[in-house]
Amino acid sequence: MPPERSSAFAPGRVNLIGEHTDYNRGLALPFAIAEGVTVHARARHAGANERADERVEAEAVDLGERDEFPLRAPAPAEGWRAFVRGTVAELADAGFPLVGAHLQIASGVPSGAGLSSSAALEVALCLALIELGAPGSTAAVDRTAIAGLCSRVENSWVGAHTGLLDQMASLHGAPGTALLIDFRTLSVEPVPLRLGGWRLALLDSGERHVHASSGYNQRRAECTRACELLGVESLRDAGEQAIATLPEPLRSRARHVAGENRRVLEAVAALRADDLPALGALLDASHSSLREDYEVSTPTVEDTVQLMRSAGAAGARLVGGGFGGNVLGLFAPGATPPAHAREVQPGPGAHLLEAHLPEH
Ligand code: GLA
Repeated sequence: MPPERSSAFAPGRVNLIGEHTDYNRGLALPFAIAEGVTVHARARHAGANERADERVEAEAVDLGERDEFPLRAPAPAEGWRAFVRGTVAELADAGFPLVGAHLQIASGVPSGAGLSSSAALEVALCLALIELGAPGSTAAVDRTAIAGLCSRVENSWVGAHTGLLDQMASLHGAPGTALLIDFRTLSVEPVPLRLGGWRLALLDSGERHVHASSGYNQRRAECTRACELLGVESLRDAGEQAIATLPEPLRSRARHVAGENRRVLEAVAALRADDLPALGALLDASHSSLREDYEVSTPTVEDTVQLMRSAGAAGARLVGGGFGGNVLGLFAPGATPPAHAREVQPGPGAHLLEAHLPEH
């Protein structure tokens, strides 16, 4: 007997370092944050309407919008509806037993802000729907496989050719720790984030992006083209000399990826050595590379980075895909982040909640 209700929470993420490396089979060092998406799911029953249990009804609480679609083979849609329909369809395709459901979705992560609101939505939907369809099964679910399923939602239903960074961070996150993710092997190694009185803070540039229509897909296509020209499977396999033979802008893109992979390993070493000034310098170097070589910054993001630096940040960089969103700053004890910046710390990864969907 499926349970009547289930609820799940999935966090957004901050990527400490390792940007635009995930779809190049490289390295990144993200952590889950306290803000995320909560999904309350309630099973629908046929009752008077014979087919009610074959349908999904979704309510986006913050937007005051709703959607209703068939459990099997929903039609494509736009905006938040594409994520919900896509997640249901991909779960069904992967063979998860689903039941018709009423879904109530509440988001605490701004969308397009570089904090992975969309991954949080997909992951929370996955956990709530898997649990509703097969009670107790969520605990044993292969979290890395779920990350792959969610990225198919992004690629096929939303049109954003994103990698696995956001979903892996949301699914594998844990308090007090960043995650060293190797996107070639999909291994995840916890790296304790010992800040010893230093602070990490986010400052919102106020500028919003949509990866399906920003330069994100173009950057990804440029990396694919660079691999074709070099005859390698991913930019992880491209050496410095080979990269130097590429035409522009591919040479700059590949140079960013190679440098960023190196900086991730250096950041892990800095954290292990409690060398936070070195971590700050790496954040700065990452940002310069994203601005100059990968060209995903904007004037508004640059102003935001400047605000962080003027406030005394030991390092500051854009987080996520770029073209707007948040800037992350590292502050030594005694330095005060700018007004409106908010401190961030690693929080728990995606998990089930006690179900408490209000009666309708
Ligand atoms: C977005 C994508 C991720 C990743 C980052 C850049 O957040 O969803 O897959 O590519 O941009 O590192």
